[in-house]
Amino acid sequence: MKYKGKRVLLGIDAAKKLRLPIVFFLCLCFFLAGLFGSIIISQDANRGKFRHKLVEESRIEEGDALLHGESGEGFIASIPFQVLSWRPRAVYYPNFATDEQCQNVIKITKTKLRPSSLALRKGETAESTKGIRTSSGAFVSAWEDNTGTLEFIERKIARATMLPRSHGEAFNVLRYEIGQRYVSHYDSFNPAEYGPQHSQRIASFLLYLSDVEEGGETMFPFENGSNMDIGYDYEGCIGLKVKPRRGDGLLFYSLFPNGTIDQTSLHGSCAVVKGEKWVATKWIRDNTKMQ
Ligand SMILES: *[C@@H]1O[C@H](CO)[C@@H](O)[C@H](O)[C@H]1NC(C)=O
Ligand SMILES: *[C@@H]1O[C@H](CO)[C@@H](O)[C@H](O)[C@H]1NC(C)=O
Repeated sequence: MKYKGKRVLLGIDAAKKLRLPIVFFLCLCFFLAGLFGSIIISQDANRGKFRHKLVEESRIEEGDALLHGESGEGFIASIPFQVLSWRPRAVYYPNFATDEQCQNVIKITKTKLRPSSLALRKGETAESTKGIRTSSGAFVSAWEDNTGTLEFIERKIARATMLPRSHGEAFNVLRYEIGQRYVSHYDSFNPAEYGPQHSQRIASFLLYLSDVEEGGETMFPFENGSNMDIGYDYEGCIGLKVKPRRGDGLLFYSLFPNGTIDQTSLHGSCAVVKGEKWVATKWIRDNTKMQ
């Protein structure tokens, strides 16, 4: 009996001693729950964290993949996209590249930047076309990048567009500072204006490497056939506008499936109002000749 009593006593004593640690433990639990909650909420604002995740998730379900051909891949890819328009055919790829990948591309390009040039029509000169394209830029090929970033992006673009890497020109990486723009134009070359072509640009893939605080949108003035009869001066920032966000991709087609030029693929870069715009462009051609 004596022994039992002592044990009960001990139990109460231990419970009293335990009360403080339990309260402390519960407080800690609430604190941690709050902390994780706020991290999850702040991830909504911090797209960068999701970005990494999405890029990793583009290789999923290795187990379900089929036997593949010589040039195929051994995994099932998942690349989220949104159709922005069928006239022109324009598709948006959120979080196509990571922040780190975007920064790498800017770093590789920075030392090579030169004022952007234009393919001139008959009768045009560098002087007569001044002001049409005021950005700086450089052509950079995947093999020039020893971080492997451009090769990774190029492979992903091929996967997303289902057009082989060999049909892509080198990346044209551009920087637009405040006030800089690219007035509306076509990426394809109309033989009537530019003479016979060895190959034609089918599609353009733009990877935005930076956010832009204000302005710098990619615009499609003739989207859905609008504004085609207003005597558009090619300068106004009108029509469907796509806001640049770091890591996001934009694909649009310059040609119809039958190979003729889609007039609604007219596009331009609105002037940057605040901040700086960096974008990597990949033009994709109808064959492997690059001019
Ligand atoms: C888009 O184009 C179609 C075909 O020309 C037209 O019927 C439709 O009204 C247009 N939509 C808008 C919102 O302008
Ligand atoms: C090519 O396709 C477009 C869009 O479907 C059509 O408007 C055009 O008439 C076609 N051109 C030829 C030459 O078939």
